Amino acid sequence: MDERVYIFDTTLRDGEQSPGVSLNVNEKVEIARQLTRLGVDIIEAGFPVASPGDFAAVKVTAAEVKGATVAALARTEKEDIDRAWEAVRDAESPRIHTFIATSDIHLRHKLRLSREEVLEAAVAAVKHACRYLSDVEFSAEDAFRSDHDYLCRVIEAVIEAGATTVNIPDTVGYATPQEFHDFVKGIFQQVPNIDRAVLSVHCHNDLGLAVTNSLAAIQAGARQVECTINGIGERAGNAALEEIVMALYARHSFYGKKTAIRTEEIYRTSKLVSKLTGMKIQPNKAIVGQNAFAHESGIHQDGVLKERLTYEIMNPALIGRSLNTIVLGKHSGRHAFRDTLASLGYELAKEEMNRVFQRFKILTDRKQELTDKDLRAIVEEEILRVPEVYRLAYLHISSGTTVVPTATIGLEKEGRQVEEAACGDGPVDAIYRAIDKITGFPCTLVSYAIDALTAGKDALGEVTAKVRSNSTATVYTGRGVSPDILEASARAYINAINRIIHGDNGGKSPDRPRASL
Ligand code: KIV
Ligand code: ZN
Repeated sequence: MDERVYIFDTTLRDGEQSPGVSLNVNEKVEIARQLTRLGVDIIEAGFPVASPGDFAAVKVTAAEVKGATVAALARTEKEDIDRAWEAVRDAESPRIHTFIATSDIHLRHKLRLSREEVLEAAVAAVKHACRYLSDVEFSAEDAFRSDHDYLCRVIEAVIEAGATTVNIPDTVGYATPQEFHDFVKGIFQQVPNIDRAVLSVHCHNDLGLAVTNSLAAIQAGARQVECTINGIGERAGNAALEEIVMALYARHSFYGKKTAIRTEEIYRTSKLVSKLTGMKIQPNKAIVGQNAFAHESGIHQDGVLKERLTYEIMNPALIGRSLNTIVLGKHSGRHAFRDTLASLGYELAKEEMNRVFQRFKILTDRKQELTDKDLRAIVEEEILRVPEVYRLAYLHISSGTTVVPTATIGLEKEGRQVEEAACGDGPVDAIYRAIDKITGFPCTLVSYAIDALTAGKDALGEVTAKVRSNSTATVYTGRGVSPDILEASARAYINAINRIIHGDNGGKSPDRPRASL
């Protein structure tokens, strides 16, 4: 029987530490739900002591998500552990993940503690967490750069204190694959009670080696890997879940290990995370990039047409890259609509279903046939909607090669319609200036990106606008979808402003710094 490798997903914690990324509670829960569909074993939902927003996200995820262990991160301070327990206690299967750095560089410059003090803090934290629950993970931050004998002493002591998983991160992405393999092997050889815990690894990608190092660790005996969807995370990110899982799957003959991941959910999960974080996927990214299965050269195309295996080591369907099928059109009724959404995995409450159906009907007047991607886009936009202080009522644009771009826009606010007009360097600039005149909000557009959701001239356009509130310097991500890209642009900007008003960024704010890692 193949040995199992446990997949610990930290998209919602380490992934959310990516610069410029902030997810609100609903978005985090939506991602957590998708992670359970994907079949991850453990979801690290956040760092509860860091901010009230983080706490709320972990608490709601723990209560709502079934089928995976929900972990909360905590430093070794009692207050952190108490807060982590408070956040995960309602989970079907809760875990507390406590950590402290063990490298001399961190001890000397960051913690200003001696090795003995760190060892005592680690043991005390694990014992304290064990008073609440039996599933306790300990991480030795910057493990790879720690003194090996000392690290082994810490690992032995925390296992003795009750830790059931011990994680050894390469926090700064410094290791090379052979070194990391030998490092893990060395721990198995030197820690006498290592068989009483699951050994886990957590690799950062500063040298582009996070996935390779994780796989090398699995070969050396690690049985849990910590990773994120699309490899997002601090600096250059974490090990990409989809790459580790597919390497184990496609090269099973080499690794001989299995995971519980439902690979056909990979693509959808990747898309959802990219959309909600606003972090685009590079086209040549392995597994989930737009070009990952595209064959450009004539020789390759010819080979694939004759026999796929000539140039394709995986079938794209295996990771859920469907052929964008037409699912519904103008004449589809409510019944067919509900059934189709259910087949795509959406169970909506009555009120949500009404809203999404209304939106669908408006869209089919403008676009004859809607694909699964189109449907997902409107469902996700509607169910993740923040309370709308401002809502788009109408938009009129005058633009072209010989006219000054001008936008006239009407927004609804508290049942009243407010109108403004503005000129700009281009039509989007004109729209945003007109909106600024209405809201009077001091904010700055930080980035703007547009994607066509499907092929074809009538594709829906999806705009992601990152907008900084000038008063708090916090960046909020707004999204808008429409067959008209100028309307999508307006919707994205209004969505970002509604988020600013709602303070809807998961608690990330330079004014309220998170507890540092
Ligand atoms: O990179 C790291 O060391 C971490 C720990 C908190 C697990 O993220
Ligand atoms: Zn990390």
